Amino acid sequence: MDQKLKKIKDSKKNFFIKTFGCQMNEYDSKRIVDILKKFGFQEKKDLESLDCFILNTCHIREKATEKVYHEIGRLKKKYKHQKKPIVLVTGCVAQAENDEMLKRENYIDAVIGPQSYQNIPKVLDQINKNKKSLNFTEFDVIDKFDKLNKLVNLNSKISSFITIQEGCDKFCSFCVVPYTRGSEYSRSIDEIIYEASSLIKNGSREITLLGQNVNAYKYISNNRKFKLSDLIKELDKLKDLKRIRYTTSHPNDMTEDLIECYKYSKKLMPFIHLPVQSGSNKILKKMNRKYTVEKYLSIVKELRNILPKMEFSSDFIVGFPGETDKDFNDTLNLIKDVKFINSYSFVYNKRPGTPAARLASIDPKLQKTRLSILQNLIEKIQIEKNHKSIGTSKEVLVENRMKDQSKYFGRTCELTPVIFDANDHDIGQIINVEIKDFNRNSLFGKKISIKKEDAA
Ligand code: SAM
Ligand code: SF4
Ligand code: F3S
Repeated sequence: MDQKLKKIKDSKKNFFIKTFGCQMNEYDSKRIVDILKKFGFQEKKDLESLDCFILNTCHIREKATEKVYHEIGRLKKKYKHQKKPIVLVTGCVAQAENDEMLKRENYIDAVIGPQSYQNIPKVLDQINKNKKSLNFTEFDVIDKFDKLNKLVNLNSKISSFITIQEGCDKFCSFCVVPYTRGSEYSRSIDEIIYEASSLIKNGSREITLLGQNVNAYKYISNNRKFKLSDLIKELDKLKDLKRIRYTTSHPNDMTEDLIECYKYSKKLMPFIHLPVQSGSNKILKKMNRKYTVEKYLSIVKELRNILPKMEFSSDFIVGFPGETDKDFNDTLNLIKDVKFINSYSFVYNKRPGTPAARLASIDPKLQKTRLSILQNLIEKIQIEKNHKSIGTSKEVLVENRMKDQSKYFGRTCELTPVIFDANDHDIGQIINVEIKDFNRNSLFGKKISIKKEDAA
């Protein structure tokens, strides 16, 4: 080890990390923790006597960005009469605002973009030498994964995540991601299988593959192209892995080979998060989504033909520029048609630098009214589905005992949270739970048996 880095390692410092944004940011934060632990840092869960404070940020909506300055303001107040910790801002706001951010808030020591986390030990070393306002926002995704691949992923939980793909080439007119995460990059299939095997060895039973456009995964080695369907085939072979999921998918990358996987893979779950954004072809065109409602519905139909119990969730943007009552009603009709099991919905938020930011916004009051109508409809469908579950038996992968110690937590194949009575030895097993009650988001029940294959 480099002498400078050894010095950091020997200094026994601590750090605190707070994460905003998507699951990929969550994954990145865990890998940042792995990097810092390797260099002798200890993770703290509170803000007392910190040596280093890290904010891993999200830029998707304006509110997410303002939260960053708010958090730094709170920290500044707390450390007014104490030695300040090193403050690192990582993630998509760091990437998008870089120098602007350093100018606006001089309490920040360094901004580090999503492709530059491997440089964190170097950044800390430079800050120790009194260097200030450091900007590490190069798009060097190959270097990032090269270095992360050499670092064991220490985050094995019953249900674990692996980022397999980064970035986006789709340029939807409303979205900042192509500018903050750069163009599409896929990790090597061997590295992913290696990371999955080590997580499984340490107890993981479910793996969710992550990517901004996970189903655009494409890796070329020795003139052979590997797609997400090839990766699923490889993961299927891993003994002790019980469930495979992937998120987030783009409708245009739902290719036949991927749809076919649902015919043969026993581990691929019958649930997919497939954001449609709007049910109006006119709005989809303005969003630059490059598919139609008819195309989206044909994917849903094809998947349900293969697996009738297939469930879908989606993201919706409500009140996009130019959205009329008719466009909005088309979205409601699509929701009634597909019957999404759950969904994320947002009011359109103008993001500077994106093409849609030039379009005239619609009345914010109308946006809010529409959002609440849409959310009520989604909730109604969700509750109807949960209600129908009463008296049925659901396969649940047991993840952990709840904090209050009396019940256990797991998820159905469709990702619905379930809280139930079971035993410690059920953790990591798939059990059948009889559903006795529900609320909007969760089901409640009692273990009735262990799934046959798991009973062996
Ligand atoms: N790649 C995914 C896809 O194409 O569906 C989405 C990833 S994006 C990080 C997550 C969600 O944020 C989007 O699906 C969209 O609904 C929402 N989003 C992105 N930009 C937005 C904006 N300007 N205003 C409101 N919601 C936005
Ligand atoms: Fe954003 Fe569109 Fe890319 Fe999704 S596909 S990350 S919404 S630009
Ligand atoms: Fe946010 Fe960046 Fe994810 S903008 S949603 S953290 S890719």
